[in-house]
Amino acid sequence: MNQKPMKGLILSGGHGTRLRPITHTSAKQLVPIVNKPILFYGIEALKEAGIEDIGIVVGDTQAEIQEAVGDGSRWEVNITYIPQEKPLGLAHAVLIAKDFIQESPFIMYLGDNVIKGGVQTFVNEFKRTTPTSQILLVRVSNPEQFGVAELVEQRVIKLEEKPQFPKSNLALVGVYLFDSHIFKAVQSIDYSKRGELEITDAIQWLIDQGYHVQSHIIQGWWKDTGKLEDLLEANRMMSDALETKISGHVDAASKVEFKVVIEAGATVVNSLIRGPAIIGKDTRITNAYVGPFTSINEACEIESSEIEHSIVLRNSRIIGIRHRISDSLIGKNVHILGNERKIHNHQFMVGDNSKIELM
Ligand code: DAU
Repeated sequence: MNQKPMKGLILSGGHGTRLRPITHTSAKQLVPIVNKPILFYGIEALKEAGIEDIGIVVGDTQAEIQEAVGDGSRWEVNITYIPQEKPLGLAHAVLIAKDFIQESPFIMYLGDNVIKGGVQTFVNEFKRTTPTSQILLVRVSNPEQFGVAELVEQRVIKLEEKPQFPKSNLALVGVYLFDSHIFKAVQSIDYSKRGELEITDAIQWLIDQGYHVQSHIIQGWWKDTGKLEDLLEANRMMSDALETKISGHVDAASKVEFKVVIEAGATVVNSLIRGPAIIGKDTRITNAYVGPFTSINEACEIESSEIEHSIVLRNSRIIGIRHRISDSLIGKNVHILGNERKIHNHQFMVGDNSKIELM
């Protein structure tokens, strides 16, 4: 049994094309869910599983990620940044992390994944059964968008990355456990048609060489937050766990219903906040309605408008939008300003620093 303490490797490079325009200016792993960057959920999951030595693979957005995460002392973990010159694939990220991982077993966690209930169970199972690799699978309705596993009597026989004709509905979750045989695998495979070193090919190499690759079908909730609807669903799922806490000021004319967090310095004037919802610090809500599953980040202003099932990033202003905004992701420093004319519905995916006027 490998007695070395387990390390963590979080992948936070890549391009994030599916969340453009937000990811033109920001790392997709820093988009907040319930006002907390997605990446922090991963760090917290690893810490909870007893992993304190964590490498984060970073790309173009290294500076922003480093500024948000720092040295890890906030979570009592040690963070090492591993720059990846280009997003050349998940197996490439493993390859460049060799100096950091050395001979330790490790858990690789994709920085845009959220898994409810964390990873402790899988880490414990891996330590107990010591396979070469352990993968997590989940049944999905759109397997062609993921790595897909084919099982025979619970044994993984084949993995394919985003196949056109999937052999099963079992998608690979972005959490993988490995011992150091994976380094031989990532050195042995070739770049795929899309020009990446695929982790699915590396795990297939382990299977083909007769190594023990164990799979675990998870029943709980998991999301790859690469797309808008998945991000909003993750926000919905995580908001559900909120408990009411009012640290800011709510005036007598306002009503706060169900699970609502109002952070310090926030003000709610003549408004209805119907949870689960979170209002970030120093945000001002005036003559407005904030509906369920909405996360408004810090220093925002929502005035004479209605919004629900949406995420608003910091320092944005939504003023005088007479019809409800829903299912939207609004970037940082955005201004959406309305007037009195009748407009029936708005759905926005608005990048940072935008300005929209509904005339
Ligand atoms: O989310 C689960 C899926 O993740 C799996 O089912 C797939 O088998 C796996 O390939 C992966 O697919 P994606 O297309 O969703 O991977 P994506 O390119 O979004 O990258 C996942 C994370 O890893 C993301 O936080 C960016 C980071 N990354 C990605 C690449 C390609 C890197 O740090 N370096 C890279 O070279």
